[in-house]
Amino acid sequence: MENEKTNRVGSVIFSEYERGEAVKKAAEMSREDILGEIKISSLKGRGGAGFPTSTKWMLTAAAKSDEKYVICNADEGEPGTFKDRVLLLEYPKLVFEGMVVAGKTIGAKVGFLYLRGEYEYMLKSLHDYLSEMKQDQLLGKSICGKEGFDFDIQIRLGSGAYICGEETALIESLEGQRGEARNRPPFPVSTGYKNKPTTVNNVETLAAVSQIVTKGGEWYKTYGTNKSSGSKLFSVSGDCKKPGVYELPWGTKISELLKLVEAEKTKAVQVGGASGVCFPKSQFERTLAYEDISTGGSIIIFNESRDMVKVLKNFMEFFVEESCGQCTPCRIGNVKLLEGVEMIEDKTFTFNYINKLKELGKTMQVSSKCGLGQSSPNSFLSILENFSEEIFNGRNGGKHEK
Ligand SMILES: Cc1cc2nc3c(=O)[nH]c(=O)nc-3n(C[C@H](O)[C@H](O)[C@H](O)COP(=O)(O)O)c2cc1C
Repeated sequence: MENEKTNRVGSVIFSEYERGEAVKKAAEMSREDILGEIKISSLKGRGGAGFPTSTKWMLTAAAKSDEKYVICNADEGEPGTFKDRVLLLEYPKLVFEGMVVAGKTIGAKVGFLYLRGEYEYMLKSLHDYLSEMKQDQLLGKSICGKEGFDFDIQIRLGSGAYICGEETALIESLEGQRGEARNRPPFPVSTGYKNKPTTVNNVETLAAVSQIVTKGGEWYKTYGTNKSSGSKLFSVSGDCKKPGVYELPWGTKISELLKLVEAEKTKAVQVGGASGVCFPKSQFERTLAYEDISTGGSIIIFNESRDMVKVLKNFMEFFVEESCGQCTPCRIGNVKLLEGVEMIEDKTFTFNYINKLKELGKTMQVSSKCGLGQSSPNSFLSILENFSEEIFNGRNGGKHEK
């Protein structure tokens, strides 16, 4: 059941919403009209990549097949990210109704919620919620009494692999295979689950869809900036007095967010989780928006007491553990970057070698097969670039000179 005690404040996702509103509205709209509203809203995917939702849906809708699928990506494996957990626990109506709307728009009858293995404890409440939706004709056969408006949702559990958040690895996992990224193209919009056209969307994207269908694309666009419409949920953790999930308009400055969560003596802000970028104080006036700092929404705050070498080591250990091993740049590269961090820690590095590792990181960004290896060097490169004074102060390196 929905948590009635929740009273979150926010202009878009957390704004007022009556259960069933989006499905009832969508039942009266044509697929083209729904797509039109999503297009007007300029909604971009909230899973991190920021791909326009209307384009993804349009391509899946246009693909010729009698079987299509909607997948809600609730793997939420990025360190420091927990906004999707809040949506599923407290606002399942927004997420599931967004899936129903997606189903009608692309022509799918079945949707999967791919749920992070660690969220197994939510299964009962989510299944209960789906049963209630069925009783209320918001799910199942002839939704809202409309013949042919059929859509059902199944929940599948992941098994704790970060790679399974990558949409093609997720599809492999859903099919019962080992979670490894597929070659792209073809893309899931034409060749997804069981090689059928499939739209994969993040939990927050689908929650936004419910609000957009109900209140309109123009309304949605009144929030945010010209290039980044609407709001964003941020999972804020680390050194601050008020960690948690915040809904803020795109265009919010890092400094404004730090004030809101009562962070003091902040030295560094990691935006986008372990695979994101670490910003120093000199960049706290930059804005969180697609046109400046684009992010899936994880904010980890470090105050002056933190050792940035230890922070970086922690991130790199995560990637060594989570690389699926399929492609060489990611499998070997992350190990080499971690070894470099350990050399810095032990003061056995040479500047010459660290510079080579920076080149390796840049090579991984362009040569890894999927987003995991393409983004895992981000923290290595940004922390060494932005915190070099702290990191190399008192650490003069090993045998070779600078
Ligand atoms: C290693 C890796 C992990 C990912 N994990 C997630 C995740 O947990 N949730 C998510 O929505 N997207 C994740 N993504 C992005 C997905 O591949 C995909 O872009 C997203 O689900 C599409 O939904 P959207 O268009 O609504 O953003 C991940 C990508 C990579 C490379």
